[in-house]
Amino acid sequence: MEQSALGERRQPAVFITGAGGEVGHGLISSFSDERRPDIVATDLRELDHKSREKCAATYLADVCDRDALDRILSMYQVKEMFHLAAVLSTRAEFAPEIAHQVNVNGTVNILQIAAEQGRMYGEPVKVVFPSSIAAYGFGSLAQKKEVGSVTEYEHCKPSTMYGCNKLYCEHLGRYYAHSYRQLATDSVQGEDKNRGVVDFRCVRYPGLISAETVPTGGTSDFVPEMIHAAARGEKYKCFVREDTRIPFMTMPEAIDATLQLAAAPREELTQIVYNISSFSPSAGEVAELVKQYFPKANISFEPDERRQAIVDSWPEALDCSVATNDWGFAPKYTLEQAFEEYLIPRITKQYESKA
Ligand SMILES: NC(=O)c1ccc[n+]([C@@H]2O[C@H](COP(=O)([O-])OP(=O)(O)OC[C@H]3O[C@@H](n4cnc5c(N)ncnc54)[C@H](O)[C@@H]3O)[C@@H](O)[C@H]2O)c1
Repeated sequence: MEQSALGERRQPAVFITGAGGEVGHGLISSFSDERRPDIVATDLRELDHKSREKCAATYLADVCDRDALDRILSMYQVKEMFHLAAVLSTRAEFAPEIAHQVNVNGTVNILQIAAEQGRMYGEPVKVVFPSSIAAYGFGSLAQKKEVGSVTEYEHCKPSTMYGCNKLYCEHLGRYYAHSYRQLATDSVQGEDKNRGVVDFRCVRYPGLISAETVPTGGTSDFVPEMIHAAARGEKYKCFVREDTRIPFMTMPEAIDATLQLAAAPREELTQIVYNISSFSPSAGEVAELVKQYFPKANISFEPDERRQAIVDSWPEALDCSVATNDWGFAPKYTLEQAFEEYLIPRITKQYESKA
């Protein structure tokens, strides 16, 4: 573990777990172009140089290791936490108990630390948590097609360990925000010191598409994989059918929305969980667009029955109207604009500079 650059004083901090992943990378780079004196980032793996430069301190730490988290956070007054560390959907189906350990027990650690710090300093600690469309679950493809767009609290019967973990963590967040230790003696006598110490905010992401990074371990990865493979001049075997449709958005839109939710006045938030997404193309529609930009793209559809079943249990589209009403969420791109204005210019530049 690296020594804190800030010494023993308790410095105000924005704490990020899973900071070395795709979302963490985007989040840290969008915070500012300069080193932020308050970003404390952790992951199991070393962050890249660019991300490290923007943080006050970075640490290697397992989110399941409460002692390690306590040692790090004893040096900081945590104001805000972005809890990104997770085992994603595909990986979780190979090691469900490990996924549960990381995704659920890791989240309990974070919520408990937030509650302790909130009580200690007498001000709420904001915990921003990314959930996923994996929290949904349709019993059949016919039902998914019939329903179309879904609000946050319907059809939540996940069929994956990852989806179960995410849905349960959303509920845990609500519990820590509203009901934590509700019968404890320090709650029933006089002032309730536990109420409101955790300000939990959850954004339910669709599949995310980044021009900078290629995802690993997710079941919505077929779209970003398809685009990056074409840009590298490689063949791509898509693991779902052409007519498979789920919601997506670009990584910068997801990061902007996450920061927008984090900054929203608490009293204006009517829900704990908010859907966000920008477009809902079929895999075939994405492939067609990829071929317009990369005419030599070699994309075939060879569905993997079991991964297909997981994607078929996720909704076609998300109703994001509550996010729009409560904190002004608005998608920036259509699929076509995302290609033209963000993905193609950035991806082309990235692979040209590596050539
Ligand atoms: N990328 C997407 O399409 C997507 C969609 C929906 C939700 N999300 C959620 O967003 C968050 C970030 O996802 P991402 O795309 O950056 O994933 P990622 O796999 O790129 O990053 C996750 C990071 O968590 C770290 N990690 C895993 N186990 C850990 C542990 N025990 N302790 C500490 N760190 C650990 C990994 O090393 C990795 O750097 C996750 O919670 C994920 O569930 C992502």
